Amino acid sequence: MRKILVTGGLGFIGSHTVVELQHEGYEVVIIDNLSNSSRDVLKGITGITGKEPLFVELDLKDKQSVQDFFRTHNDVDGVIHFAASKAVGESVGNPLLYYENNLNTLVYVLQELNKLQAANFIFSSSCTVYGQADELPITENAPVKPAESPYGNTKQIGEEIIKDSCKVSPNLKAIALRYFNPIGAHESALIGELPIGVPLNLVPFITQTAVGLREQLSVFGDDYPTTDGTCVRDYIHVVDLAKAHVIALKRLLDGKNTTNFEVFNLGTGTGSTVLEAIKSFEKVSGEHLNYKIAPRREGDVVAAFADTEKANTELGWTSELTLDDAMRSAWKWEKKIRNK
Ligand SMILES: NC(=O)c1ccc[n+]([C@@H]2O[C@H](COP(=O)([O-])OP(=O)(O)OC[C@H]3O[C@@H](n4cnc5c(N)ncnc54)[C@H](O)[C@@H]3O)[C@@H](O)[C@H]2O)c1
Repeated sequence: MRKILVTGGLGFIGSHTVVELQHEGYEVVIIDNLSNSSRDVLKGITGITGKEPLFVELDLKDKQSVQDFFRTHNDVDGVIHFAASKAVGESVGNPLLYYENNLNTLVYVLQELNKLQAANFIFSSSCTVYGQADELPITENAPVKPAESPYGNTKQIGEEIIKDSCKVSPNLKAIALRYFNPIGAHESALIGELPIGVPLNLVPFITQTAVGLREQLSVFGDDYPTTDGTCVRDYIHVVDLAKAHVIALKRLLDGKNTTNFEVFNLGTGTGSTVLEAIKSFEKVSGEHLNYKIAPRREGDVVAAFADTEKANTELGWTSELTLDDAMRSAWKWEKKIRNK
């Protein structure tokens, strides 16, 4: 049985990926410092798969702890590295926190992987690296634009760090996955997104408003050059995203990669406006959402959606679930956590 380390494995995308890894027969070890998650997520994962993954509570900012971990677990076959801080606004106010948490941790893990005979590494990157792309849909060849925030910059620098490491370490193989907009939850409603404080992403804000936790949703701008004037995003179901990680990992484990550092977009290929996302939610939930149109928000990209050709043909992955599926699962999850 192959052993996979999932850093940040109790977080939103990490927990769904752990489930898919276990479904595919991998042995999973999770590292998480619980800075944006809770130990309860372990119960959710175990409730779905029937098998509790090994959990090591550890802060990856602590280099010594990372070294100690790999001394004990020097038999890992692959690492999926989710652990990072991800709040764009917070990163503007506290850039050093972001550079430390998102880059030091990456360096420490890569330093340990360099000591192994073979290392397979999957990195959580983001479509933020493209900024407002000149052409839509966005291919992996679209130029990386200057980052709008320290958070976005950590993803760009992170990719550079991995690429440079792969150049000099023949035993290191890596894939950076550039996510578009992950949403939704596991259909069991045993795991999902747990935003701490006021959610920064659209879907948790929608579900929290519908459940009565927030008074009203603000739609920032309805005068953009899009079909209904609101921003366009590529919403990808978190379960589809999780499955893509398992496929990417297998690609490396089976030596199917064409270069030691590869990049893939993970999106559906379809752009939806904010109002379309709201309509989808209202349709599947039967709820009326209280929202208002607010002024544009600084730094918002007008439209971003993925060209999925490379992921479809080279990686062999295609998203299967729809925006409605994602909204339905997110709503089920929201009701579940509020009833708890
Ligand atoms: N959710 C999105 O919209 C999105 C989009 C693009 C990229 N990403 C990236 O995907 C990854 C996962 O995102 P997510 O939405 O699941 O976030 P999340 O916050 O739910 O999960 C991250 C997990 O990492 C843990 N963590 C953070 N710092 C750590 C440290 N120093 N040591 C150990 N554990 C640590 C947190 O406790 C959390 O459980 C992140 O790298 C994020 O930047 C997310």
